[in-house]
Amino acid sequence: LGRQIRYYDQIDSTQIKAHELVDQGAEEGVLVVAEQQTAGRGRMGRKWHSPQGKGIWMSLVLKPRIPLHFAPQLTLLVAVALCRTIRRVTSLPVGIKWPNDLLVDGKKVSGILLESSAEEEKLQYVIVGVGISANLREQDYTDELKPIATSLSIASGRTIDRTELLSEFLYDLEKLYELYHEAGFGPIKTLWEQLSVSLDREVRTQTSQGPSEGTAIGLDDSGALIVRMKDNSVTKWYSGTVEFAN
Ligand code: BTN
Repeated sequence: LGRQIRYYDQIDSTQIKAHELVDQGAEEGVLVVAEQQTAGRGRMGRKWHSPQGKGIWMSLVLKPRIPLHFAPQLTLLVAVALCRTIRRVTSLPVGIKWPNDLLVDGKKVSGILLESSAEEEKLQYVIVGVGISANLREQDYTDELKPIATSLSIASGRTIDRTELLSEFLYDLEKLYELYHEAGFGPIKTLWEQLSVSLDREVRTQTSQGPSEGTAIGLDDSGALIVRMKDNSVTKWYSGTVEFAN
């Protein structure tokens, strides 16, 4: 993965570029990296703050041999790979908040966005978008972001070698991706549970009927979060935003 790299100084979004490249015939493993994004996108229509030279803003083309309904497993796989890489390279106690935010000291240091293209149940390709806030400083964050986001360099007190981090991540991701095709989701799920900061916590999500609260107790085979509600019934949350309720 990432043996063919398209590098941009400035771009609207590496996700948009990666989709274009697939339309032009790009194969699995093609990587788009930019120093700065002017229209970086986050999950659920949010913007992703991507200042010049401070982070790793990348999108990777994958063509996994799995049906569409397994795509959420891939999101968790990417989170596991990145969490392990960041722990090894920076020694920071980073953990995964379901489904795929990486947190240090309760603040977000990285986000993952998977966009897939499918016909019926057949998955054609997936663009794995990863934003890692590597070397942002306090003043790079707006007042709105300050309480909820941080960077690896703020958290560790040192400058992060972005090239090293990116190449280690691609290596870890490739290994895990191979394992996934050989052994399925089981081993990934176990790793995710070990690295999770969501399990055994009180969690809250918004539904069309208002907020819903319970205790996160596990992950199912599709990647959904299993939640025990106050009345002891057990439900599954498949998507959306999950906050800690305490
Ligand atoms: C999230 O947590 O909401 C996901 C954020 C994903 C951001 C990355 S940065 C590189 C790639 N290009 C984008 O426009 N978004 C993703």
